[in-house]
This record gives sequence, C-alpha cells and structure tokens, in this order.
Amino acid sequence: MFASKNPDLPAQREVLDTIAPRIAELMQRHRDARKLWMPSELLPTGDDGDAELAALRERARGLPDSVRVALALNLLTEEGLPHFHRLVAQYLGHDGVWAEWNNLWTAEEDRHGCVLRDYVRDARLFDMKALEQMQYQYIESGFNPEWKDDPYRLLAYTSLQEKATQTAHANAGRLAGQYEPQLQKILAHICADEARHYAFYRDSFSEVLRADTNRALAALAAIAPALAMPGHNIQGYAQMSEVERRAGIYGPREYLKLVEDLVRHWAIDALDGLSAAGRSAQDKIMQLPARLRRMAEYVESKAHTRSFSFDVIYRRAFEMAAG
Ligand SMILES: [Fe+2]
Ligand SMILES: [Fe+2]
Repeated sequence: MFASKNPDLPAQREVLDTIAPRIAELMQRHRDARKLWMPSELLPTGDDGDAELAALRERARGLPDSVRVALALNLLTEEGLPHFHRLVAQYLGHDGVWAEWNNLWTAEEDRHGCVLRDYVRDARLFDMKALEQMQYQYIESGFNPEWKDDPYRLLAYTSLQEKATQTAHANAGRLAGQYEPQLQKILAHICADEARHYAFYRDSFSEVLRADTNRALAALAAIAPALAMPGHNIQGYAQMSEVERRAGIYGPREYLKLVEDLVRHWAIDALDGLSAAGRSAQDKIMQLPARLRRMAEYVESKAHTRSFSFDVIYRRAFEMAAG
C-alpha cells in the first residue's frame, strides 16, 4: 500500500466502521423510498412505427440553444461516473456497507448518463461526434481532487455535488418543459434519484459530524469554499458553465443557496465543545455564505450581453443577456 498523506486516516476509518450500522439503515431507507426506473421506460419504443419518435423530434426542435448547451454539460457531468465510482471506492473502501452503497449508487447513476444520451440521440439535439469527443477527453483526463486522503471530504463533497446536480437538472427541466414535456419528465426522474442520493450523503455526513465533530468540520471547511468541478478540463467548460449561469440553471447563486441549506440542516452554528481547529473551521463555514454572495454579485456585475457558440450545437451563435 502507499503511504497516506493523512495521519488521521486510521482514526477516521474507525469512525466510518463505528457508524456502519447507521449507514446500513440509511441505505435501507433509500431502497424503501426509491422507485427503480429504467431508461427505456422513458423513451420511444419504436413499437408504433416510430410515430412517437417523430413527435418527440418535432417538439425537441423548439428547445433553445441555451437549454441544449446546459443539457450537454449536465449529460457530460453524469458521464463522469467512472471518476466518481473510483473516488468513492478509494475514499470509503472496497468492502462492507460503504462498498455496497458505492455499487448501488453507481448502478443508479449509470442510468442518468444512459437516459440522457439516448434522449439527445433520439431527439437529434447534438453533433454527437463533438459530444463524444468532449466525453472522451473528460474521462481520459482523470479527476483527482486534492482531498488529502480524507474520507470526510468525500462525504462533504458528494453531499454538495448531489444537490448541485439535482438543482441543475430541475432548472433545465423547468426551462425545457414548455417545449418538450418528455425531456422534463426524464429530468424529473433523475432529480428524484439525486434528491435521495443527497439525503443519503447528507445524513451520512451528519453521523460523521456527531461522531468526530472537529475533523468533520475541518473537512467541510476545506471542501465547501470552492467545489472542485470535475468537468473543468472539458474543452469549452467555462463557457458552458457561463451559459448555465445566465440561463438561471446553475451558478454561484444556486451554489450559495445549497450551502446555506446544508449549513442550516447540519446546525453548524450550534456545534459546541470544539477544539481550536474545530472552532476555526466552524467560523470559516459560517462566513462562507456572505463570501459566496459577494462572489455571485461580482460575477454578475462583470457580465455583459455576449454571444456563445459551441461545436456540440453545430457552432450556431446565440446571444445571452448578463443573467
Ligand atoms: Fe446523476
Ligand atoms: Fe446522484
């Protein structure tokens, strides 16, 4: 084995073992609440001589370019699953309840990329080769966030990331729905999964916060200020994110809101009996919403109407207001 960068790792692994029975309960809660769906249930079957497919294509023609670009980015994010399966295994281990969760979660997530890819292909929304090249590049580039071998950082990250994806899919679905209700329905199914994943990770992190408060706070304080976005080395990623922000699908405002919700849910401000390091992490977290608000305002104040163009939508140019 390789030497760990994290001297606290043995103690943290012990905490993860101690809370395993509770994690098993959270996993059972997840299984009880979910209604497992399959991508093909949400897409035309071809049984009707492709009439349904033709109608879907016709409706999809109305989708604005901004929504298409957001859909491309959200799809690519889902297709980053190999990175995340590996990270969960690397940080939470290869056996026991955590590994069981990783497999269940991966199987659920895998359907998200599948259904979106099948949909965009059925709907003829994209230059598929351009999309596939981005996906290839994204997977080949790897994703190795600097989490210093700290499994609590993984749980803090996944709590935030699940809510972020849920928000992005929900807002894209809302905007798509007036043109293409079928796409909104697909996105609603994905959102329901993300909401349950979020509840699992959030409540797992609650257990860690209870069992090992100071270290959990330090992990959250390291992760939350700047969520490492896995797709950042996709070509055109910054511009695609900017389209999402301007469309009101996902950006600093949405991130601010989900951080506020989580800080409230975990009652970070009420934690006491902390070490000096724990207190300093708590302060840093409590100051974060104001900092994120300033960052959102700064981005908005710098933005002007601008034109965008992406290979994935055949280099059509479209304009967007500052947002
Ligand atoms: Fe997903
Ligand atoms: Fe998810």
